[in-house]
Amino acid sequence: MSTRLYLYPVAIRVWHMVNALMFLLLIVTGLSLQYSSKDLEIVGFNLAITLHNIGGITLTASYLIFIIGGIVSGNMKHYKIKYKGFWNRLYKQGRFYIYGIFKHEDTPFPTSENMKFNPLQQFSYVLALFIGLPIVILTGWAYLFPEIVILKIFNLSGLLVNDLVHITIGFILSIFMFIHIYLCTIGPSVKNTFKSMITGWHE
Ligand code: HEM
Repeated sequence: MSTRLYLYPVAIRVWHMVNALMFLLLIVTGLSLQYSSKDLEIVGFNLAITLHNIGGITLTASYLIFIIGGIVSGNMKHYKIKYKGFWNRLYKQGRFYIYGIFKHEDTPFPTSENMKFNPLQQFSYVLALFIGLPIVILTGWAYLFPEIVILKIFNLSGLLVNDLVHITIGFILSIFMFIHIYLCTIGPSVKNTFKSMITGWHE
């Protein structure tokens, strides 16, 4: 018998949709700016700058709403890692993804209203949302206002360091997104989890 849980209220679904669309826009325009040349332009240079700025500003606004909304609504509790037995839980979930799942074992951490994420989901979301995203957002804003960037860091240009951090973390977050989408295909059916993020109901 399958259980239905209402895990993703409208506000989370809207935030997630905006977040995912802005990520895609930022990846395409970011790559276009990174590899711009006269011979090959994915998006025209000036248009890529405008769209990248719009994407970054929208992502920042939706991030702030997600954090404040999460604190007020209680959604943040799902992102609180319990350190006791943490590595063991992570191992159990990792083992399930690379072995147990193919042996049709039961999931070690079934979804519930109190625990909507398994340990690996929780860990990767915390890294992406509370470490990666703030760094990309802050270094992005530093580009918009270069006069606030420290001029020299260890004898290197502050703008260069800002640039390297922005593109490296942006790249890691892009990889996170692809792994995240792949892991969302694991479930009763390939479409199941994606449907949950549209209807709000987890099966
Ligand atoms: C096209 C891109 C994306 C797709 C198709 C997608 C898909 C999904 C799906 C199906 C879920 C529900 C399953 C779950 O709870 O794990 C989900 C949840 C989530 N996704 Fe994504 N995602 C995308 C991009 C992103 C990005 C870029 C981030 C963050 C940087 C992100 C962060 C999250 C978080 C934090 C949740 C849990 C939300 C909550 O319930 O509090 N996703 N995603």
